Amino acid sequence: MTPLSPGSRDVARILSDLTTSGADREFLANAELHLPRLHELFVRLYGERSDGLERLASVVDLARRSWTERPPALKALDRERESTSDWFESERMLGGVCYVDRYAGGLSGIRDSIPYFRELGLTYLHLMPLFESPEGNSDGGYAVSSYRRVNPALGTMEELAALAADLRRAGISLVVDFIFNHTSNEHEWSQKAVAGVAGYEDFYLIYPDREMPDAYERTTREIFPDDHAGSFVQLDDGRWIWATFYHFQWDLNYANPAVFEAMAGEMLFLANQGVEILRMDAVAFIWKQLGTTCESLPEAHLLLQAFNAVLRMAAPGLLFKSEAIVHPDEVISYISPEECQISYNPLQMALTWEALATRDGRLLQQALERRHALPDGTAWVNYVRSHDDIGWTFADEDAAELGIDGSPHRRFLNDFYVGRAEGTFARGVPFQENPRTGDARVTGTTASLAGIEAGDAGGEDRVVLAHALALSTGGIPLLYLGDEVAQLNDYGYRDRPDEAGDSRWVHRPFRPAQAYADRTDADTPAGRVFARLSRLIDVRRSTPELAGNELIPFDAHHDPVVGFLRPGPAGSAVLVLANVGDHAVHIAPLTLSGLAPDAVDLIDGGRISLRPGRTLPAHGVAWWRVAVR
Ligand code: GLC
Repeated sequence: MTPLSPGSRDVARILSDLTTSGADREFLANAELHLPRLHELFVRLYGERSDGLERLASVVDLARRSWTERPPALKALDRERESTSDWFESERMLGGVCYVDRYAGGLSGIRDSIPYFRELGLTYLHLMPLFESPEGNSDGGYAVSSYRRVNPALGTMEELAALAADLRRAGISLVVDFIFNHTSNEHEWSQKAVAGVAGYEDFYLIYPDREMPDAYERTTREIFPDDHAGSFVQLDDGRWIWATFYHFQWDLNYANPAVFEAMAGEMLFLANQGVEILRMDAVAFIWKQLGTTCESLPEAHLLLQAFNAVLRMAAPGLLFKSEAIVHPDEVISYISPEECQISYNPLQMALTWEALATRDGRLLQQALERRHALPDGTAWVNYVRSHDDIGWTFADEDAAELGIDGSPHRRFLNDFYVGRAEGTFARGVPFQENPRTGDARVTGTTASLAGIEAGDAGGEDRVVLAHALALSTGGIPLLYLGDEVAQLNDYGYRDRPDEAGDSRWVHRPFRPAQAYADRTDADTPAGRVFARLSRLIDVRRSTPELAGNELIPFDAHHDPVVGFLRPGPAGSAVLVLANVGDHAVHIAPLTLSGLAPDAVDLIDGGRISLRPGRTLPAHGVAWWRVAVR
């Protein structure tokens, strides 16, 4: 056993072993580039361990073997991605997300949907968790029992690999979850850990009594209080195991480098099936330290960077997408080319809904001003809603600057979106209401939250407005499939025992066949919403100003109006204005006087003059190509 030593000696030794063992040239070049960083991260994470060097060497060997097995088509993709490293920042990118069973019955149904995905313009398809998981409640598949077997109800791993190739031929990158914070209690590792099998005892955090759990829980947050209090659950034998989410999702112990190695193996296996983007699930929770919140600790970043470095050696075309639904300062901390290249933008998502409820765009405008910028080589994934609840993750200190008190404001937003506030247009459902802390989150489909279900006159406009923002602020816009045809809440979950206790199922409906059939019928909400969103998608695709992430806030001088410029390559820019209010507003000539008077209305088509000012209808959106004077 040899501990790691700082400096270059370990790296030189591993590289020389690789050379003598005849590793392929391309792999060696990747290793030379990325091993020093992986080594440094290992020193910081596992420097105290006596087995540090052996572990690092075996991770590198794992990467080497995985590279050897990587299909030539994927190696070709790696090279292509490396030579166009900004591919995911293009205006042509458009994401879609769906559950395999609910949307298409199984993997073969997803393959049959490829023509529709192309019609829509998707270039990115996130299939919700599709791995083997416990019968009944499996947190929608987020409790994984095997990363190498597809849930047999959906298909097989061979079918998944074939689907990845079919999608790639259609110009669509396959995205799947990498659920690496925890496994299900039925995973082989968890069974072995509980049984005390040598080598697995330290895969999870298991304690004989309440002493350590009590100590940790003094500072941790309850994530699924409807399921269990605190961060631990009791095993049948009386011991306690860390379970941040459901009681059957057991957190892995990354302080043990064997866990890192095992998970890196699963990651590389998925990479070699043709997955192009890994959605890094629950990143904030992966490192635990007594006396802290156990969220977003510095080591969580080191771990992600270490996984990234392994990927750069063995599957360099892949991207990581961060799922951190936390304070905006923390969300941004996961985003860099060395860590997660893309990330959900939960702040923009939540504040879009906040603005629609309050009819006041100022918090969203402020977020676009100060929290939108990203490091080069990274992008936001902008979305209107996901398969999860909406949490009001804005920073209290930001809100305070606008005279808004965070806690009562969150309470108002929860009441508004679950239909408890007077005058609300929303039909959402509460999720994980915690009577002890007053916390709650909100669920509901876009159409139901925006007012279509309630028959509110502004409902369709709000659906379009919310998407118009996600489609124009930059990065990768992500559609929850079905929302483009205005699908409504599915209250049937209340009668399905495995779902009844988790209100997120209200917004995970089965593919709305009727709405899809209506999508060409302008007399239906589905038809109108689909036509308007399709138009926005088409415009985006041919508007280079909407690529990348650069955004210049534009003050429209009306609180309900969110405004920004997206500067383009040739001195042109697109001015985006969105009126979240219930009344038309007139944008004064003076406000527009910094722009040349002639502009192009990209959504309606045709030239317009800005000279007399412009009127934006209630819930109206404008995308104007302008010239800045
Ligand atoms: C992520 C998923 C969520 C799941 C949780 C636990 O937050 O988006 O659906 O419940 O992780 O895996």
